Amino acid sequence: MSHPRQLFIILALLGIIGLAAAAYAWWPRPNDWTAAERATLQTLGLDSLPPLPADPSNRYANDAQAAAWGEKLFFDTRFSVNGQVACGTCHLPQLGFQDGLPLGKGVGQTGRRTMPIAGTAYSPWLFWDGRKDSQWAQALGPLESAVEHGSSRTQYAHLIATAYRDEYEAIFGPLPDLTGLPAAAGPVDNPSARAAWEGMSAAGQEAVNQIFVNIGKAIAAYERTLLPQPTRFDAYVQAAVAGDTAVMRDLFTADEVAGLRLFIGQANCIRCHNGPLLTDNDFHNTAVSQAPGLPEDLGRAAGAPQVLADEFNCLSAYSDATSEQCAELRFILAEGEQLIRAFKPPSLRGVAQRPPYMHAGQIATLEDVLIHYNTAPTAPAGHSELEPLNLSPAELEQLLAFLQTLNE
Ligand code: HEC
Ligand code: HEC
Repeated sequence: MSHPRQLFIILALLGIIGLAAAAYAWWPRPNDWTAAERATLQTLGLDSLPPLPADPSNRYANDAQAAAWGEKLFFDTRFSVNGQVACGTCHLPQLGFQDGLPLGKGVGQTGRRTMPIAGTAYSPWLFWDGRKDSQWAQALGPLESAVEHGSSRTQYAHLIATAYRDEYEAIFGPLPDLTGLPAAAGPVDNPSARAAWEGMSAAGQEAVNQIFVNIGKAIAAYERTLLPQPTRFDAYVQAAVAGDTAVMRDLFTADEVAGLRLFIGQANCIRCHNGPLLTDNDFHNTAVSQAPGLPEDLGRAAGAPQVLADEFNCLSAYSDATSEQCAELRFILAEGEQLIRAFKPPSLRGVAQRPPYMHAGQIATLEDVLIHYNTAPTAPAGHSELEPLNLSPAELEQLLAFLQTLNE
């Protein structure tokens, strides 16, 4: 039987330990991550970016000479109907390779928002609706779009022969004889250029297509070199993985940490914005409104059949891949309700620096993007994958603070 005084001391000590434990649990320690959370954070850091995936459809993908020439083409406005539009007109390097406009502007106005380019070598599908399956095939789209570069493939072939013959031949071998070829011909909207194209022989068309494709392959070789740069977020992930609380505290404010916690936790943004590029490169209906004044946009539901029918896809004669190497295209999900108004999430790296947002610039600010996710409106067509988050205004502020750490 113990002395009552001893019992009192033991109880008092237990009380103190209890209070200390309660205080410890209550005291905010924002940088304490569980092992599972640290593992999740690690998957989002740039250190987890795998080596560039091969592009077997482009045998020049890793050719430095092709990349250097492709960079010139990317910024050469002669590749347009009015001499004023290059890829770099809409994809401005100083703006993260986009233009800050709701809808891209070239010769005319496009129906979609210009996308950033860094890291797109990792994406099996290109464009908001994924209607292209390689960077080289993608590049050929704007060149012949009536509202972007607005010209045609024979004009580009003639331009290569006059302005870039040596560089082209050093990479791709001798140019074919282009005498007698129409000045402007291609399967484009312009009726006279289309008629001229239809009047050409199959062999003539094929020779022009080969030059056109090589333009795309050189531009793609250049675009592969455009990769995201490390941000404050990546430094934070390194510190979190190392468990270095002092460095974590130096790098992120309490709000930024809380926002990151929401991003990977309660708000579950990483369901679609995951991996080091913060995109799953897949297609989702997130109830983004139909842009007023534009034709109805079905997103992936239209893009999937288009990539299957694309004359320059991975399985085409102009691809350098074997059919086994075109698994993405062969096993494509091309039908289904879930493709209606489904779009590709762009990488969230640098996102705070490039308003407005979404596939037609429908949402002006990042604050409004977060309100969109918080309320989860009904989709204008198809079914939204979002559920309301019901976060408080303070929590939305924290998410916003976190997204700004992704700036370069
Ligand atoms: C008139 C402005 C404009 C021009 C010129 C232009 N683009 Fe784009 N770019 C856009 C728009 C708009 C989109 C999205 C279009 C869509 O989804 O339908 C886009 C999308 C892309 C994408 C897809 C990115 C992704 O994540 O899927 C790449 C890559 C790209 N452009 C490269 C190029 C290249 C290469 C050129 C030159 C050959 C070029 N662009 C010319 C506006 C432009
Ligand atoms: C179900 C998948 C999904 C979830 C969950 C999701 N997103 Fe998105 N996100 C997308 C898609 C798809 C787009 C492009 C939609 C469009 O343009 O129509 C997008 C676009 C964005 C954009 C605009 C990017 C740009 O350049 O225009 C931001 C910012 C963004 N998401 C942040 C978030 C945040 C923050 C969360 C968590 C609260 C989140 N997303 C949750 C799929 C998702």
